[in-house]
Amino acid sequence: MEKNAKALRTIDYPKEVGPVPEGKKPVLSVRNLAVSFKTDEGSVRAVRGVSFDLYKGETLCIVGESGSGKSVTSKTIMGILAPSAHIDSGSIIYEGEDLTKISEEEFHRIRGTKIGMVFQDPLSSLNPIMKVGKQITEVMLINGNRVKKIYLDTINDTLIRLKNDQRLVSLAKSELKLKNGSKSLSKEEKAANVEAYREMKAKMAPKIKEDKVALRAKKAEGRKKARAYRLACFKDYRQNALPLLWKAAVSLVTGGFSEAYGAFIGAHRRYVSKLRVSHKEAKRRALTIMQEVGIRDPERRYNQYPFEFSGGMRQRIVIAIALTADPDVLICDEPTTALDVTIQAQILELINRLKKARDMSVIFITHDLGVVANMADRVAVMYAGKIVEYGTSEDIFFRPAHPYTWALLSSIPDVDSKERLEAIPGTPPNMLFPPKGDAFALRSRYALGIDFKEEPPMYELSSTHYASTWLLDERAPEAEMPKIVSTRIKNSLKREEERKNGLR
Ligand SMILES: Nc1ncnc2c1ncn2[C@@H]1O[C@H](COP(=O)(O)OP(=O)(O)O)[C@@H](O)[C@H]1O
Ligand SMILES: [Mg+2]
Repeated sequence: MEKNAKALRTIDYPKEVGPVPEGKKPVLSVRNLAVSFKTDEGSVRAVRGVSFDLYKGETLCIVGESGSGKSVTSKTIMGILAPSAHIDSGSIIYEGEDLTKISEEEFHRIRGTKIGMVFQDPLSSLNPIMKVGKQITEVMLINGNRVKKIYLDTINDTLIRLKNDQRLVSLAKSELKLKNGSKSLSKEEKAANVEAYREMKAKMAPKIKEDKVALRAKKAEGRKKARAYRLACFKDYRQNALPLLWKAAVSLVTGGFSEAYGAFIGAHRRYVSKLRVSHKEAKRRALTIMQEVGIRDPERRYNQYPFEFSGGMRQRIVIAIALTADPDVLICDEPTTALDVTIQAQILELINRLKKARDMSVIFITHDLGVVANMADRVAVMYAGKIVEYGTSEDIFFRPAHPYTWALLSSIPDVDSKERLEAIPGTPPNMLFPPKGDAFALRSRYALGIDFKEEPPMYELSSTHYASTWLLDERAPEAEMPKIVSTRIKNSLKREEERKNGLR
């Protein structure tokens, strides 16, 4: 290896993550996210400065042993953290909105419709005493108010623009600073902070007022549009449905009542379905989605309870529920861990297929790097609440650079050579006391003295590939990755080559 021949550049991670690749569009940008839990023993630092971009139409796999902070990261994105959790820092930008700052109500709008989540254990996300069909349609019916949707669609852009005004954000930040950082400051410093905040606020006052007026106007416009829609529906009803009711009344005397009444009911249903998603429509869509996720005989399955399904089929139902809202982003947190190997492969294939068909972006979380190979466009390797290496799938599988990634790679059982599985020695650290420096050093035979003192910077191996290990420093001694890993890489590169030649 000649990596140490010249000094590698470093980036200011987790503030930045490197350039956006050409032709790629970030859908979700997480920056410097830190989350901790208050417990009786102290503060558990579950996530400690995580940053990544999820690009449109791609799958990002987050890989790491149990306890590395994967689920806490995904729960923070979904806004479903336990009450004892605290977001210490960071932002999660989705469509220009910072999900860590928006209100509960707005969060529902995004969580319910734009970002879907699939959990490890399908049983815990299904209601055991409700038929699966009802569980699928329930969400559609809840989100199915079309009048409200017109209103929300109208005000959405303005809301995002105002909320993300940098000046307002810095005002909020300086207010926060007043609240939090008061202990270590002198009286004079405190007073200066208060003064700075007041000044800023005074300067912003006209702007804030202007914003309020703009938003009020937009809201009025939204209400007007929603009302106009409702009135148009009602007008249509008066013109087309009510006469049918009159006819039906007349038919009580003249005969043919049931036909006439049926016609009225049809028109009435059409009216209602213009205002909200009807049960019939929801059922139709549920059956289509059940088919889409590979559930055979959906008509019959629709009326069954979760316990009548196998584990794999249950996970398909959970995926179906997540799809009902047509999400842009699907977060799958170890969706196959509870399933046996063949079923696991089928679910992975399903997720891949859905991603392509629906042009979704996927965050796929797993502790098993072996699962990742056929799924990931990009991989982020997580350890002790931090991302220690990230790159394209090829970067991680063919040019791994962090000793922890090496360790994960050596622990994948190899189907070809039947090589022994090398378990990673030791256990992940207790996040009540996050280790200093490189957290993996305690378990790594590659550890250097500096690893126990200072955290390594994020080295840029290429424009897509980054790793945080002192081994990449120009002053570090040569370090070869474990034989088992380099042999595997050599073999799979050889196979790749042969495959290419064979095709030619
Ligand atoms: N509700 C909680 N209270 C206290 N600590 C928690 C809680 N949830 C998670 N943690 C801690 O946060 C860390 C990361 O957990 P998690 O994100 O679930 O790991 P992963 O999903 O990678 O297995 C662990 O140390 C875990 O013990
Ligand atoms: Mg987890």
